[in-house]
Amino acid sequence: MRAARESGSLGFMKHRIRLAAWIALMVPLVTLAAKADLDHGAALFGQCVGCHHADGGGDSNGSTPRIAGQHFRVLAKQLVDFRYGRRWDFRMEGMADKHHLVGAQDIADVVAYVSQLPQPRERGIGSGEFVEEGGRIYAAQCKSCHGAEAQGAESGVPRLAGQHYGYLMRQMYDAVDGRRPALSRLHGKRLAPLDFEQVRAVADYLARIGGPQP
Ligand code: HEC
Ligand code: HEC
Repeated sequence: MRAARESGSLGFMKHRIRLAAWIALMVPLVTLAAKADLDHGAALFGQCVGCHHADGGGDSNGSTPRIAGQHFRVLAKQLVDFRYGRRWDFRMEGMADKHHLVGAQDIADVVAYVSQLPQPRERGIGSGEFVEEGGRIYAAQCKSCHGAEAQGAESGVPRLAGQHYGYLMRQMYDAVDGRRPALSRLHGKRLAPLDFEQVRAVADYLARIGGPQP
């Protein structure tokens, strides 16, 4: 739908302006990580608890992700992606705008606060039937970037361990279907050959590992 709406030269110009704005916000964020104000971040996080909850744990049915303990760069990039239309979700596009988070400092503060929250115990999991297969697929195809324990990396690779099953499922299908344009095409290509059961297997495996166990 969006592709159609933004097609033509006007769409292309809008895309370029948004990309410039995306870069202008992303670059200072990286250096602001060390200078973030956690008290201000906690106050800003008050705007997020209605959906992500006070512990940053999200919903175990996967409608809202766990964000507590996720790496600074990963969180910051997602907010900037939502703000400039590089990731689509009507709830988050509204929250990542200038009315809720004015500039780079606000984003750095709230993200620093969220990333230092302890990882919650509760997570939504799958049926358990395919966990072993999920572990095998993960080790062969995902571990090289997302890490041996699916802990991700500070450099901007998301922690997947302990994330809700339903959310992981949705992100993988969104990536394959091109609904998450900031996830590289290469990433989508890695996920595309997996059949439904294999996607379920990886998501279930990831949801069950890492962090304090329930
Ligand atoms: C109205 C509900 C709602 C509110 C309020 C909200 N979020 Fe979200 N958030 C969501 C949903 C739903 C998603 C998952 C979107 C998707 O499926 O792609 C999400 C995703 C995210 C992600 C991406 C996580 C990941 O692993 O990629 C980040 C970061 C995030 N939110 C941060 C925030 C922050 C910070 C605030 C407060 C300023 C906030 N959210 C407020 C509903 C909300
Ligand atoms: C070449 C490195 C690389 C490989 C291999 C890789 N990923 Fe990723 N993955 C990333 C990066 C980087 C991101 C974050 C992209 C962004 O910033 O939006 C990501 C994002 C994700 C997300 C979204 C996380 C969130 O919180 O929303 C999921 C789910 C995911 N990867 C699953 C997988 C699975 C499953 C595999 C193996 C089949 C895999 N990845 C292989 C680098 C990789």
